[in-house]
Amino acid sequence: MYVIGGTASKTVAEDLSKELKAPLAETISKRFPDDELYVRIMDDLSGQHAVIVQTTYPDPNIIELFLLQNAVDEAGAKEISVVIPYFGYARQDTKFKDGEPISAKAMANLISLNADRVITVDPHKEYVLDFFSTSAFSCSAVPELAKYLETKNIDMILAPDKGALERAKQASRIIKCDFDYMEKTRIDGTTIEIKPKKLDAKDKNVAIIDDIISTGGTMAKSIQELKKHGAKNIFVACTHGLFAGNAVKKLTSAGCNEIISTDTIQSRFSKVKIAPCVSSFFK
Ligand code: R5P
Repeated sequence: MYVIGGTASKTVAEDLSKELKAPLAETISKRFPDDELYVRIMDDLSGQHAVIVQTTYPDPNIIELFLLQNAVDEAGAKEISVVIPYFGYARQDTKFKDGEPISAKAMANLISLNADRVITVDPHKEYVLDFFSTSAFSCSAVPELAKYLETKNIDMILAPDKGALERAKQASRIIKCDFDYMEKTRIDGTTIEIKPKKLDAKDKNVAIIDDIISTGGTMAKSIQELKKHGAKNIFVACTHGLFAGNAVKKLTSAGCNEIISTDTIQSRFSKVKIAPCVSSFFK
């Protein structure tokens, strides 16, 4: 087995290669003068199980994944596993309006062309796995996030919407603390409304947990509600930290004490590793 790390997921690939005791392939990735991408895998993958690790965000990383998949296929790999730490485009998982694509399906179709198996982490909706025509699995980063939060004396886990409730429940079981949820309505990509609700948060350390932080709007509104209810310290934790635009500023000015994300998208907030959860699929 060889682990091949795409540009977006070098750290995860290194961690995975250690976890699996499989060598990390040497790769070259550069741009032609016209900005087209060039990749090359320097190790001989003929007859090997190739495990490619690449987040499909932002867009150039998608092309790199397709090229790596083709490279290992052309090299004669006997098995191809594709690990997608963050599956970009997964949120457009249906046609919300006439004329729209099902972006998650379009991506899954193309990735499936050169893969015997796909593994992703906390997809926004589990059913996107059905869009792959090859075997597709997901794993959850919540246990690893909960382990990190356990060190912060958390009294309550809050889900910012009902979609995050199962994650919050799972984390609260691990930490052995209370949980609650908010009711969110999304108006558009950047505007959300959160219904005021009575929360038992006075003088408590609260962690809000979600799959994605994008614009930070969802978390910022939840922080504001918790502040109104007298929460002591507020932590925000997510699997996929996109931190689009001024998301970080929004979170800190709303009064957040710490931002935590995993390394599915590498940032200064990547405090939790996902390799342990991904590696279990190969053991
Ligand atoms: C939506 O249901 C997701 O679980 C997240 O709550 C959402 O993607 C967060 O987006 P934003 O940070 O832009 O509010």
